[in-house]
Amino acid sequence: MPPRKGQFGPKNPTATAKIPLPQCDGPKLHPFADDKASLEFVRLLSDPTLDADAHVFEVSIGGQSYALKAFKFYDDEEDHWVLDEFERDLLSQPGAGNQAPLDHLNYYFDPFYNECRAYGKLIEAKLNGEVAVHCHGYLMLSPEHEDEMDHRFGITGWKRPIEEYDKSPSERQPLRAIVKDLVLEDTEWTPRVANKMLRDLKKMRKLEIYAMDIKPENYKAGLLVDLSLALTAPHVVFQIKPEFQTRGYKNQDLVDFDAMIRDQKVKTRIRAFRSAETAKKLRSYKGQSRSGG
Ligand SMILES: Nc1ncnc2c1ncn2[C@@H]1O[C@H](COP(=O)(O)OP(=O)(O)OP(=O)(O)O)[C@@H](O)[C@H]1O
Ligand SMILES: [Mg+2]
Repeated sequence: MPPRKGQFGPKNPTATAKIPLPQCDGPKLHPFADDKASLEFVRLLSDPTLDADAHVFEVSIGGQSYALKAFKFYDDEEDHWVLDEFERDLLSQPGAGNQAPLDHLNYYFDPFYNECRAYGKLIEAKLNGEVAVHCHGYLMLSPEHEDEMDHRFGITGWKRPIEEYDKSPSERQPLRAIVKDLVLEDTEWTPRVANKMLRDLKKMRKLEIYAMDIKPENYKAGLLVDLSLALTAPHVVFQIKPEFQTRGYKNQDLVDFDAMIRDQKVKTRIRAFRSAETAKKLRSYKGQSRSGG
């Protein structure tokens, strides 16, 4: 079937609200600028057989090629993987400096919002396109787009909340998507590229963005493309978890980076985790020697 042209801006009111998301403390992602442009699906880029949080397409919007990541809905009953019941209760207490009442917790765990918050912070820091693939904002898909993904690519099962099943397509929440630069040409994993990737990771750490999913499939041409598991400060996990645990989360990217570079057989001596640990030890050693005169 030839590609069909559709329009953004489904009837659902939440879809047409052009506000930065998510609506909670911290960084937010702006909507895609040209929401009147026509959207054509070109082909599926991601593997539909994987149990992923999203499907990624090559699309054309207003005649320009992009990658569009369409997110499944997030089921907070089966997830919030890092919070136990006690912590969830604590976060739902009003006051006490809580960043997030319970009904806002999804802003910190839904993969769509994770990407919104991470990209929002990168954009604020003027690093859009430098450490992760350039992001052009979010957009809401129409029921017609949803139909097209079903008919042309066999993509269904967006994990909609059960109460939406009886509703007509136009009454349901729209599917949410994030638009990014399309990267078709990959680069070789040279030591130079690996070095740049590590510098990028360190820039993200400085901003307190932790990707939490460092692996070769999430890089294209040396740039991160996947931030859907990212923990971006301010974050309820950093607020509620003991320090030793948050330190573990924060170091995970470094550990994974080293494993990835080893698996890719990059001929380099750079080590992310060791160098960060060494730097920390050096700092504390210097601190001691200063205080000791
Ligand atoms: N901007 C892009 N340009 C080209 N290809 C891309 C781009 N973004 C993603 N892809 C391709 O799509 C695949 C899946 O994308 P991504 O890693 O963002 O989502 P996912 O892993 O399916 O979802 P999630 O991690 O949220 O479960 C990537 O491994 C890559 O091959
Ligand atoms: Mg991925």
